[in-house]
Order: sequence, then structure tokens, then C-alpha cells
Amino acid sequence: MTRQLLGRRDVLLAGVGLAGIAAVPALATTGQTPVHVRKDPDCGCCTAWVDILKADGFPVTVEMVPPDELFQFKLAQGIPETMVSCHTAEAGGYLIEGHVPPADLRRLLEDKPAALGLAVPGMPWGSPGMGPEAEREAYDVFLLARDGTTTVFASYPAA
Ligand code: CU
Ligand code: CU
Repeated sequence: MTRQLLGRRDVLLAGVGLAGIAAVPALATTGQTPVHVRKDPDCGCCTAWVDILKADGFPVTVEMVPPDELFQFKLAQGIPETMVSCHTAEAGGYLIEGHVPPADLRRLLEDKPAALGLAVPGMPWGSPGMGPEAEREAYDVFLLARDGTTTVFASYPAA
């Protein structure tokens, strides 16, 4: 490495120190957070959801898990049975169950509440990966607490 390159690097580092402190965490937690998805190999709507997350900028890895094993994994992770959907994802230390909209995942990663994660139970028609938004049925995104309780994180009215 030449002296000139080193000098440029020092300037860049100094710039980060002065102005970049607020920007760096935002970069690290928005669309950049890796998402690991466990899904049933035969589930197509899961793949549709994965494609939507990728289009939104999330790096996504997918792991195929047989349905029974996947269900046991959900319960073992503390997802209440009433909150169960098809796929189970992990992002930024949170569990993401079902067809959670990317905007809600981003808000979770930015706000960092003390929680287990988010869930959209069942597979509501018109949620991301589940048919056209123009035909959306009303559904809620739930914040899952570690004690098994849930609160509404976001509500989507019927289209
Ligand atoms: Cu699904
Ligand atoms: Cu799915």
C-alpha cells in the first residue's frame, strides 16, 4: 500500500469520526441485516415472501426443514401456537414468523424492542407473498414478548 493510499484512508476514517457516527448504525440495521429463513421445502408462498425481502434489500438465506421439525422448532423457540404461520425467519436476533411486511421488519430492527420477534399468524390473503395487496384481508402484525404474550405491532385494514 502506498503512502498516498494510507493518507486517503486516514482522511476517510477521520470523516467517519466526525460525521458518520449517526449514519453507521442506520446502515447496519436497515435493509442490510441478514435474514435466515427456515421453510417447508414444498411451501411456495414462503419463496414469494423471500423474493419480496430480497427485492427490499435484505440478504436472505433459506434452509429447508421438514414440516414436523419446523413446527417443533417454532414451539421450542417460544412462538405461541396461536401465532404460528408457514416459515420462521431470524434477523438481528429476532424471530420473524410468517408473512411479515418488510417495512415492519425494518421498524423492528431500528427500534430494537426487548422482544422475541414479530408474527403474522396464519397466512392472511394479501399479506406479502400471499396474493395481491389490492385483495388484502385485514390482518395484524404481532410483537411477541419473551413471556409468551403478544401485542399488536401494526394493523393492515382490508383493501
Ligand atoms: Cu406462507
Ligand atoms: Cu412461508
